[in-house]
Amino acid sequence: MSISIPRGTQDILPGEVEKWQLIEAKARELCEKYQYQEIRTPIFEHTDLFSRGVGDTTDIVQKEMYTFTDRGGRSLTLRPEGTAAVVRSFVEKKMFGYANQPVKLYYMGPMFRYERPQAGRFRQFVQFGIEALGSNDPAIDAEVISLAMNLYKEMGLKKLKLVVNSLGDKESRIAHRNALVNHFQPRIGEFCQDCQNRLEKNPLRILDCKQDHKHELMASAPSIIDYLNEESKAYFEKLQKYLTQMDIAFVVDPNLVRGLDYYNHTAFEIMSDAEGFGAITTLCGGGRYNGLAEEIGGPQTPGIGFALSIERFIAALNAEGVELTIHQPIDCYIATLGEEAKDYSVGLLQQLRLAGISAERDYLNRKIKAQFKVADRLKARYVAVLGDEELKNNIINLKNMETGDQVEVELTNLSNHLQEIKG
Ligand code: HAM
Repeated sequence: MSISIPRGTQDILPGEVEKWQLIEAKARELCEKYQYQEIRTPIFEHTDLFSRGVGDTTDIVQKEMYTFTDRGGRSLTLRPEGTAAVVRSFVEKKMFGYANQPVKLYYMGPMFRYERPQAGRFRQFVQFGIEALGSNDPAIDAEVISLAMNLYKEMGLKKLKLVVNSLGDKESRIAHRNALVNHFQPRIGEFCQDCQNRLEKNPLRILDCKQDHKHELMASAPSIIDYLNEESKAYFEKLQKYLTQMDIAFVVDPNLVRGLDYYNHTAFEIMSDAEGFGAITTLCGGGRYNGLAEEIGGPQTPGIGFALSIERFIAALNAEGVELTIHQPIDCYIATLGEEAKDYSVGLLQQLRLAGISAERDYLNRKIKAQFKVADRLKARYVAVLGDEELKNNIINLKNMETGDQVEVELTNLSNHLQEIKG
């Protein structure tokens, strides 16, 4: 019996993988411009990190983690997201002591959530995310948002919607929390078991319930915006001012509740507005998490970041019909006629590649005509034809595939010649 790929995962094959590489390269380029440096953390962490960091009452921790016990009896979990791990590393490696503050980091890699697979929702997906730790300036919130928006725009996306909200500071959140409890308590029996549990532990999560989202009490629930204290309000206003100054369009949505518990103040999501994008429109999510470092045993450190998945990025590009140039032509295909020429081409190919020329040869004993067909398929700019006769005379025939022009080149000079015409 053949074995198939696990549900919710995918193979990314040549032809498609080039899109990933382009997005990844653009993300790295932007991080360089914005001065974010790469961090690589393990694929698995102690389970406690996520229960404490992401939050016990979240769907991620309650239902979606790939948790296992290792041979030493430790409970480990495949990371469902990147922020908790980055903050764990920040604390553990004492990055709060670095001379350069805030510490600006980015990551790219697979995350794992046991979710119900559907378009745009996978069990293994790749996130690109950034985290800025150590600053309480709303300007860095604006910077974080602008990096994500620029990345999408520079890849050609136009139909984007940025939604922002403020979840306020601790004091505002406690006031809002009490209002939520008063609002839902009298009729909590009409809600699912999860919501009933959430009422005491984390009533904000009720607003994020996938099962009861149509209940009439949801729409009339007290909004956090009305419970922001002066400081939180001022923070949120500054953020909006900076976004406007940066020419980044946004809408405020007081109902934006993120699926992770560590947020306060700024919360945001970027959605695709493209027609036919499908039910899941969120491309990117992020926000501020000033209490997270403390929660996992470090000093009080403000932080803000976002994460986006490459899967949804590509889905948005497809929905908007953005074509990425993914077929890079090769510089030279070496076609050979005869045994000696074929043997010689092994060394010649190596020479070309070492000289920075992308090159290929035949490995299937094809006839010369078939070799030219392959060269066509590879979009070779030049085909260098070598027969046993040419080999004896130290020459090679170089055909420009665009113009059809042919020249004879000294064989030992081929790589120099190609380098020259490449410029
Ligand atoms: P999140 O909203 O859980 O936030 O995920 C961020 C992004 O990851 C989503 O907007 C979506 O693009 C992508 N994503 C999430 N789940 C899936 C899935 N099952 N399949 C495909 N893509 C998915 C976080 O993970 C936070 N760590 C973001 C953050 C960073 N907040 C502050 N810093």
